Amino acid sequence: MKGSKRQQHRGGTSRRVAVAALVVAAVATATVLAGCESPSILRAEGSAAKEIVTLALWIFGILAGVLITVWVILVYVIVTGRRRPLDKASQSHGNLRIEIIWTAIPAVIVTVLFVLTVVYTERITMPDPGTQFTAVGRQWWWDFEFGDLGFKAPNEVYVAQGRPVSIDIRSADVIHSFWVPQMGGKIDMIPGHVNHIHFVPLTSGSYLGECAEFCGAQHGKMRFLFVVVPPDEYTAWVRNQQKPAAEPTGAAAVAGKQVISTVGCGSCHAIRGTSLKGTFGPDLTHFGSRGGIAAYTLKNTPENLLRWIQDPQAVKPECKMPRVPLPLQQQQQLVAYLEELK
Ligand code: CUA
Repeated sequence: MKGSKRQQHRGGTSRRVAVAALVVAAVATATVLAGCESPSILRAEGSAAKEIVTLALWIFGILAGVLITVWVILVYVIVTGRRRPLDKASQSHGNLRIEIIWTAIPAVIVTVLFVLTVVYTERITMPDPGTQFTAVGRQWWWDFEFGDLGFKAPNEVYVAQGRPVSIDIRSADVIHSFWVPQMGGKIDMIPGHVNHIHFVPLTSGSYLGECAEFCGAQHGKMRFLFVVVPPDEYTAWVRNQQKPAAEPTGAAAVAGKQVISTVGCGSCHAIRGTSLKGTFGPDLTHFGSRGGIAAYTLKNTPENLLRWIQDPQAVKPECKMPRVPLPLQQQQQLVAYLEELK
């Protein structure tokens, strides 16, 4: 009777352990899978990011080894120790040899982690080719200023694959943080201070950039696209960005250009080659060439642009873009014009 109760009890315990193990495994799998979604630091495509991932995997491996060792010892002690009466348990207090061993092992582990960190940090360091553009954080969008080349590329910036990229980092208002997870380390954007980051983008592709410092109501909707292309495509992109705005061709777009010059958009926005010269909001000279609206809050489609123009506050509450009350036809003309600005 006593024996069967004990067996039942044991059965319950092992079931609970099994369920707990399953839950842990499920959570771990979900976490790893979630980490694989782009922009994931585990999918490194930049020189600095690759080194950081390798270092992270080393550290993860070593610490996983420590964890597994502790678990194995723990299970061994539980299984063997429970059969022994308490007063027969061996005592290790004051055992000098054991004290030395369990001081030495962590010291070795910490030293190895330290050396690995120094080695990989050194590998990230490389010659700086000199600033190519400035990234400016703003509530809640990104400006990429190519001062020498004479243009601004808000919220979407191109770089040449395989060539070092060197960026000055500034803020126009509060502290933001520039981060393209697949390219490399994040860096703070501090008002009144210029930071700097450089790395080599290794693989062509479009990578999402994020703001990594809480900066206000729309911190979560402050994204940009970091596009890595072969060098000749990069040159073509620069040439296109340098051009003034294209003249509209469609009837609606022609009317839209008239509308945009009269309703006050120019107090915040600039369109090079027109009367719009504002600097507070994003430069719209090549708006139609970009994939996103409102710092990648919406995809750049005519429907979404109309939605954005009709009520920016509904899409992105507290953003600095006001509602511009216009008849629907004029809103549609504005959309037609902006989408033609490739
Ligand atoms: Cu900008 Cu968070």
